[in-house]
Amino acid sequence: MLDWDNPLGDKDKTTAKPPVVPLDLKLQEPEEQLVSIAAEPLPEIMTATKTIPQVQSPIESAQHPTAGIQQRATTLSSSQGSTPLNDTLASSTKPVNVSDKRVINGTTDVNQLAPFKYPWAWEYFLNANKNHWTPLDINMAQDVHDFNHSLTDDEKHVYTNVLAYLTTSDILAMRNIGLAVMEKMTAPELQIYQARQVYEEALHTWTYQHCIETMGLDQSEIYNRYRVVPAINQKIQVANRRLNSVLRPDIDLNNPEELSNFVMAYMFFGGIFEGCWFYNGFSPIFALQRRGLMKGTAEQLQYIMRDEVMHASFGIRVVKEIIQENDVALDPQAIREMWDEAEAAEHGYAHYILQKPILGYSAEDHIEQFRFIANRRARQLSLEEPFPGARDTLPWLDEQANMRKEKNFFETRVTEYQTGGALNWDQ
Ligand SMILES: [Fe+2]
Ligand SMILES: [Fe+2]
Repeated sequence: MLDWDNPLGDKDKTTAKPPVVPLDLKLQEPEEQLVSIAAEPLPEIMTATKTIPQVQSPIESAQHPTAGIQQRATTLSSSQGSTPLNDTLASSTKPVNVSDKRVINGTTDVNQLAPFKYPWAWEYFLNANKNHWTPLDINMAQDVHDFNHSLTDDEKHVYTNVLAYLTTSDILAMRNIGLAVMEKMTAPELQIYQARQVYEEALHTWTYQHCIETMGLDQSEIYNRYRVVPAINQKIQVANRRLNSVLRPDIDLNNPEELSNFVMAYMFFGGIFEGCWFYNGFSPIFALQRRGLMKGTAEQLQYIMRDEVMHASFGIRVVKEIIQENDVALDPQAIREMWDEAEAAEHGYAHYILQKPILGYSAEDHIEQFRFIANRRARQLSLEEPFPGARDTLPWLDEQANMRKEKNFFETRVTEYQTGGALNWDQ
């Protein structure tokens, strides 16, 4: 049984023990602690006695530094001085007015959840919790047999490269939402869903690791593939460039150019990276699943896909809100180039993973499906379709994404989350 106070075992417990302190020093400990705590600057409300009206409120200290980096820089630089918190404390204690809340650049208290300005974001959080699983819930025994005895070399090539691509991508997705996006949000209901999203990306990484480990694949080789295979590397580079452009400490979203770059980056991650590349990225494994192969892995990916379509749809909604609230005018040429770059990268990737078609699935099917899904994401973003006339080459893909688990309940384990299974995950 897990020892919750010592989860890593006795060795760790030993190192975690406090040093032995002579009795006379122990007696001084409480006082030392007081000194130590007092060295941290306290919000004044914590030190106040009866003079509450004169105390500056900590509420505004929770304001997102939405005035941009200048305010943050001022705070940081003055924090080297004697009263770091006072610089960000304001005298206002007025309640949060819902109409003042903003997706970005807001000035309301980010530590106060309600009143909701974006109740749909809270709904996303509630729905996301209906799709909870862990990779250990799913039986992978048949997959090990399939991989070793049923898959052709071409199918193994597809399977291992899909995992190699997805695992690197999911870490990128986690870093994007957790490090670059979440901190810029100024409404807590948005951040709370994004916090869940960060967890889900970590869960996805665990899932791929579980598949890689269970199949007995060479981990160092699989995890390095994105570095040595140009077609995988190209997709990662495109995403990395977007991420690095917004993962900067000096970004100021009050600057129109910076804001439009941030919107483009979020649009890329929600609409393309998650909305197209992930959505389409699972389909080669689903093609195997449809032939009764690698069904455990495919089931894992179905759960991931549900998360990803929600991430995509949430991201698209946030992007539209930002555009509306801030009157952002995006450059149509930049949007066109974004789609073209994504298509070119997907083209190279598809021809690498499907150098030879596998039964029921080819590189051309994959690329055309990318274009078809890209049109859907563009419509959701209120943009022109980038690839008019693209055909739905994998009409079973949506059904695969939305499949209710009851259908194959007896084929796999499975813990089914009934309410989650009833959701339309792409709406
Ligand atoms: Fe993910
Ligand atoms: Fe995601």
